[in-house]
Amino acid sequence: MKRVLKLFLALVVLVGVTAGGGLTWASGKSADLRSRSIAVHKTDFPIPFALDETEVAALGFTPEQSDSAATARAIERGRHLAESRFACTVCHGSDFSGGVMVDVPIMGRILGPNLTTGQGSRTLNYTPGDWDRIVRHGVLPDNRPAAMPSEDFQRMSDQELSDLIVYIRSLPPVDNEVPPVTLGPLGTFLVATGKLPLSADIIGDHLTDHRAEPPPSEVSVGFGRHVAGVCVGCHRADLSGGPIVSGDPSWPPAANLTPHADGLGDWTYYDFVKALREGVRPDGTPMAVPMSDLTAYTRNMTDLEMEAVWAFLRSVPPLPSGA
Ligand code: HEC
Ligand code: HEC
Repeated sequence: MKRVLKLFLALVVLVGVTAGGGLTWASGKSADLRSRSIAVHKTDFPIPFALDETEVAALGFTPEQSDSAATARAIERGRHLAESRFACTVCHGSDFSGGVMVDVPIMGRILGPNLTTGQGSRTLNYTPGDWDRIVRHGVLPDNRPAAMPSEDFQRMSDQELSDLIVYIRSLPPVDNEVPPVTLGPLGTFLVATGKLPLSADIIGDHLTDHRAEPPPSEVSVGFGRHVAGVCVGCHRADLSGGPIVSGDPSWPPAANLTPHADGLGDWTYYDFVKALREGVRPDGTPMAVPMSDLTAYTRNMTDLEMEAVWAFLRSVPPLPSGA
């Protein structure tokens, strides 16, 4: 009996030492990965984008009137983007003063910081280049990779980012100090082993310029492809779906959105709108998290945006579901 107990204790110690050693390795590795310096191109753009000169001349605006009209237009467009497409508020809070991405001890405490101009603001002294780095590259102002899933935003144009910034800056300042990201043991292991890739690594290309403006707002495959730029992070570049690499391991695979029998082959435009506005499939079953959370945003897409995305989804090659 005693011998069995001794053996058992030895085994416990051995497992403990191995796991402890593994954790020490993983902590070092994940700290190295998160303290790397990532080179990102230099970008500059106006905040806000000015009105078109012929527009200003036609309206007979003074320079001041033209500036305030440009700001008002940017706030309006930025609000629509924040409410329909770029779901910043999921993690940064509905008033942008801070929110929760993940707060589970084993995974870590990954909070979205305060983006208002109040106490604890991370963005008070941000330049256009700083906004570009964090939002479209997943890189912090000091060049370290961030824990923000920026792969969903990499296709945003300069004008859309500028509109979002003007909108965020127009919001009431809120005082809220948000603590920095800390990873739990599982989060540390997943980052160290590359199972939870950082968005800066998923994006990969940090040197190609972004488009200055979105394509014209019209029911076209081109505009639809641009709007659907926020769908490909999960549904993949070829839209065939499959497991979500940078997602919560409990999420189901992303659905196939191509016009294949595995995908939206027999869906009508009406089915698509119903899914994105009401969160249910044609057979009445609700879509699971995270798609069900996203419909709080996609439901605010205009009919024109819906029709453009649908035109784009109908134009892609039908593919069986991604593995
Ligand atoms: C899925 C969650 C999530 C979404 C969506 C998200 N963020 Fe973040 N964001 C984070 C997290 C987490 C951090 C902290 C990253 C870190 O410190 O490594 C962060 C950090 C930031 C920072 C501050 C970086 C700094 O200097 O400390 C800015 C600015 C920012 N996000 C802007 C945005 C904007 C704009 C959007 C929408 C286009 C957005 N985020 C969408 C999770 C998110
Ligand atoms: C954060 C990841 C994520 C993003 C971003 C995302 N989706 Fe999804 N989507 C999913 C997942 C996961 C499912 C599967 C849900 C389920 O199994 O219930 C899904 C399901 C769907 C479905 C239902 C398809 C079916 O056959 O059941 C449609 C339609 C859809 N998404 C459209 C979109 C569109 C359009 C966008 C961009 C505007 C988008 N999704 C963005 C993760 C995402």
